[in-house]
Amino acid sequence: MAREPPLFLKHWIDIDPERLARYETMYQWSAAAEAFYAPAEIRAGQVVVDFGCGPGYTAIEIARRVGATGHVHALDINAEFIKRAQARAEAAGFADRITAQLLTDERLPFLAAAVDCITARNTIIYVRDPVSTFKEFRRSAESCTELRAARGSPTSPFEYRPSPIQRGVCSA
Ligand SMILES: C[S@@+](CC[C@H](N)C(=O)[O-])C[C@H]1O[C@@H](n2cnc3c(N)ncnc32)[C@H](O)[C@@H]1O
Repeated sequence: MAREPPLFLKHWIDIDPERLARYETMYQWSAAAEAFYAPAEIRAGQVVVDFGCGPGYTAIEIARRVGATGHVHALDINAEFIKRAQARAEAAGFADRITAQLLTDERLPFLAAAVDCITARNTIIYVRDPVSTFKEFRRSAESCTELRAARGSPTSPFEYRPSPIQRGVCSA
């Protein structure tokens, strides 16, 4: 029998229309998001995973940075977000550059060392087991040598604030 997801996951799997409408506004790309993703140094030709992609605004911006020779895998546990991320990719002319995929378990749908970079903004707090998630990141990313985490601030939930504690070696 399938296991019932814990409440913090159900919160994201079942989203009512009013909350979906709010997220469409909240997760739009902004200057704060630009600053947040800059340290990831996403480059042309890279294969990048946006883990917890929401409605797909970030995947579009990453797709611009990886260019025609790169690829973005937009992953989420919410089916409506995946539908919207795919539709958004098509509307932006990036249908061949972005693959939006629904996650149904904790394993990432990649072979070992298949991706270059993984971003996960405001998502790790929702995973069932962060250690297994980081192990999956490490297995999937070719050069996962550094983990950069960020915390929000009262003025901007997406402000990036590196510190010695928040930068560490990805050795999970
Ligand atoms: C706070 S939203 C952030 C959305 C997006 N990363 C952004 O910053 O605009 C968290 C996202 O993570 C997704 N999520 C929650 N738990 C997840 C999990 N275990 N695995 C993958 N995605 C998850 C949610 O469905 C939601 O889209």
